Amino acid sequence: MAAATARAAFGVQHIAKGIGRLSNIVLKRGAGSFVWTDEGRKLLDFTAGIGVTNLGHCHPKVTAAAQAQIGTLVHGQVNIAMHEPMLSLIEKLKPVMPDPSLDTFFFWNSGAEAVEAAIKLARMATKRQNVIVMQGSYHGRTFGTMGLTKSKTVYSSGFAPFMPGVLTSPFPYCTQCAVACGNDTLGFENCCNNPIHELKVLLKQQSAASDTAAILIEPVLGEGGYVVPPPGFLPAVRKLCDEHGILLILDEVQSGFGRTGKYFAAEHWGVRPDILVMAKGIANGMPLSGIAANKELMDKQNPGSMGGTYGGNAVACAAGVACAEVMQEEKVLENVAARSKQLLDTLNALKTSPKTGHLIKDVRGLGLMIGLEFNSPSFPTLTPKDVAAGISSKVQAKCLQNDMLTLTTSIYETIRFIPPLTISEEEMRQGCEIFTKAVEDVANES
Ligand SMILES: Cc1ncc(COP(=O)(O)O)c(C=O)c1O
Repeated sequence: MAAATARAAFGVQHIAKGIGRLSNIVLKRGAGSFVWTDEGRKLLDFTAGIGVTNLGHCHPKVTAAAQAQIGTLVHGQVNIAMHEPMLSLIEKLKPVMPDPSLDTFFFWNSGAEAVEAAIKLARMATKRQNVIVMQGSYHGRTFGTMGLTKSKTVYSSGFAPFMPGVLTSPFPYCTQCAVACGNDTLGFENCCNNPIHELKVLLKQQSAASDTAAILIEPVLGEGGYVVPPPGFLPAVRKLCDEHGILLILDEVQSGFGRTGKYFAAEHWGVRPDILVMAKGIANGMPLSGIAANKELMDKQNPGSMGGTYGGNAVACAAGVACAEVMQEEKVLENVAARSKQLLDTLNALKTSPKTGHLIKDVRGLGLMIGLEFNSPSFPTLTPKDVAAGISSKVQAKCLQNDMLTLTTSIYETIRFIPPLTISEEEMRQGCEIFTKAVEDVANES
């Protein structure tokens, strides 16, 4: 057995099986849009570590900031004192918040922890218990967030009971909407509005507004399928929240920090969250997450009720400051717009191609948070076309054979594209070529 393979075998033996992995590749190094394996293979990374390394692997400025901070102060525990990198990070984040009312921050380590922090704040501030989440939502795998995650049963099966007081309402997933299906006049541009209707019904039948602390939503469903809501949905939810004194929590763990082409996805609809949840791209791979809210709301919590040994770590915050600077200096959002068009043009060409079009149900997304959904044979009433099960995994495997990492998402046959936001035109061209060939090969075999 070659040395690298033996190393992978060691990992398979000693790393928890419950993690589940796309591959048994051993990663050694990353730079920009690429990672290298211990066998020297160079892979084009269209996963960005699940939307984390938005500025590319080991961005030089972010790495230098983290290295400098390691030699200055690593741990400045937040229940003991404040530290300079956190103050600098707040100065950088305040101007890019989707609403100026979001002026007070709490930092933690992971996205799931930040979601839990948002729920703690909502319950404490409103003195109400219930939280409404969306069907298809993903908010994490901790005990608190398992009960909030509704994208796949694998995240919860066998672990019950969960946090009580969680109710689920449908997200407007137009291509899988039972109301819009088969009705040519309804769809993304002309939503049936059933999800808003169902939300109102839920507030009448299952959770009185006076018991409902918050509605928690990913502005673009991530693990639920890279689903963009139709234009009126989030403004209508905001209106409902305002009418009933319910807090709107937007989970921008995956959609934030330029991923959808705006700094935060909420800006696409001009919707103000009461609590914004952030992680992933905030520090390009250093473990850092946080919530932002208005000071009056945030300060409803008792001193000492929030915190944690490592929350808002100084090195991670220093990396976060550098990330914010790179976003401006390298005009990252402009690159996202150009590369998004390049990718969407390729995927739409596949959808209309006589060779592959019959396999593809939908191409959708914002910025570089883009999904391609194949027809799913396991849901025959909504997907009349005949394709083989597991098509997204087959395409993903072919991409990997050709040295490109991609991810699937959702219970439907969907590939998600999450390349670094700094990806070059040539790297995107390579990725489009590999993906096109993979789909064509699968089409030829089926
Ligand atoms: C929208 C969303 N919320 C929360 C989380 C959980 O973040 P973490 O894995 O850092 O706990 C994720 C992770 O993928 C996510 O995409």
